[in-house]
Order: sequence, then structure tokens, then C-alpha cells
Amino acid sequence: PTQQDLAGQHWVITAGPTMEAIDPVRYISNHSSGKMGYALAAAAQARGAHVTLVSGPTQLDAPQGVKRIDIKSAEEMLSACHTATVTPADVFIGAAAVADFRMKEVASQKMKKTGDSDEMQLTLVKNPDVIATLSQAKAAKCMVGFAAETQDVIAYAKSKLERKGLDLIIANDVSRTDIGFNNDENQVTVLSKDQQWTPPKEAKSALAIELVELITQYQSTQS
Ligand code: PMT
Repeated sequence: PTQQDLAGQHWVITAGPTMEAIDPVRYISNHSSGKMGYALAAAAQARGAHVTLVSGPTQLDAPQGVKRIDIKSAEEMLSACHTATVTPADVFIGAAAVADFRMKEVASQKMKKTGDSDEMQLTLVKNPDVIATLSQAKAAKCMVGFAAETQDVIAYAKSKLERKGLDLIIANDVSRTDIGFNNDENQVTVLSKDQQWTPPKEAKSALAIELVELITQYQSTQS
């Protein structure tokens, strides 16, 4: 059995997509399967951490011993994360693919095609940035984000690290079809303010174990 060295720590991890309603039958979402976030939850739990997994809609079962809170929208995710961190957590990891925008107004009835137009306009408004809001609220001692990028991956990830006030950011090149969204494997680069690590491409379950180890080592250099 794995060493229970994270016993007594609380890790809060987000996973999966958010689902933003358009009307009672339609929504805006993305291709996140939740696999990366669930693997991280399992890896932290295996080392003895108390893990709260705030999850968008996925096909996955919660890892054994992990407390899962189901949410749909970004606003619900933020509220569930606030509740989970009333007492600040040790680590927060934002692995979820949070929709940046939601409908300005969700239609209360199914939207109808109108006979006279081939176009349809939806007005969207910005969602709250879950991880940036939590970081400002000091919701966890160590804040870890992901950066899903299709170009200039490292540069964009670095700017997100600073802008969102994070300790670590895990840069994920989502232009590649062999890793990232909905794959069983992933390859990432982990960045702190002044260091970077690139574990090999491997199964998300194996990568998650390495990421939990990296985060734990980073924590120990900070305290
Ligand atoms: O779920 P899988 O199929 O296993 O795929 C894994 C993954 C590709 C989804 C995952 O590895 C990943 O990269 N997750 C982050 C996806 C994302 O939305 O990245 P971003 O660069 O748009 O956001 C940067 C960070 O801010 C992320 O930690 C994100 O959770 C957070 N964010 C973004 C927008 C928002 N409104 N609130 C947020 O908290």
C-alpha cells in the first residue's frame, strides 16, 4: 500500500466540463471527460489525503473514498468550491474545463425556430473564473491550475500562472489528438514561477501519481 503521508490534508479538485444551459433541452459544454481530474483525486486519496472532487457531468465513478460533489454550471462549481474551502484546503487543483461564457438569460421554454431567419443569435456573458476567485480568497495554501492551450503553450500557461495568482500551472497542449481532452494518456509541463518539469507521456493514472508527488514536493519547499 502507498504511504499515507498526506493524511490530515484536504485536497479539493475540480474535474470534467461545465454545462451551461441554453434552454431546457440544450447546453454549451466541451470535450472534457473528467479522466485527468478523477485520476488526480484517486492519486491524492491513495496517499491518505481527504479529497473533495467537484465534478461536472462525466461518465466516471468517483474513486473509492473520495467525496464527490456534482455540479453542472461554472457558477455552481464556484459555489461548491467555496463551501468546500470554508476552512482553507491544503491543495486546490483546477483540472476542470470550465466554460468561459454562459447564456445572458437561460430561456425558460425550448427555443423555437423562426420561419423567417436562417440565423440565430445567442448573447453570452462571462462566467466567474473559479480558480482565480478561489486564489484571491486564499481558499487553499497551494493553488494548482491547468492551462489548456493550442499554441504558445508555455508562454500562455506562464501568463495564466501569474494572472490567476497560482503556485503551479500544468500546461496541456490540447491541439494534439493523442493527449489531453478525453484521452487515456496525457503529457504536460508543470510550471512554477521559476522552475519547470516535463514528465513523460503516460496514462493519466500514472501521470496523476507523478503530479501529486510534484505538488507535494513543491509544498514542502514552501513551508
Ligand atoms: O477531462 P479530460 O478529458 O481528462 O481532459 C483533461 C483536460 C484537458 C480538461 C485537463 O488536462 C485540462 O487541461 N484542464 C483545464 C481546461 C481549461 O479549461 O483550461 P483553461 O486554460 O481554459 O483554464 C485555465 C485554468 O483556469 C484551469 O485550471 C481551469 O480549471 C480554470 N478556469 C478556467 C475558466 C474559468 N471560468 N474558471 C476556471 O477556474
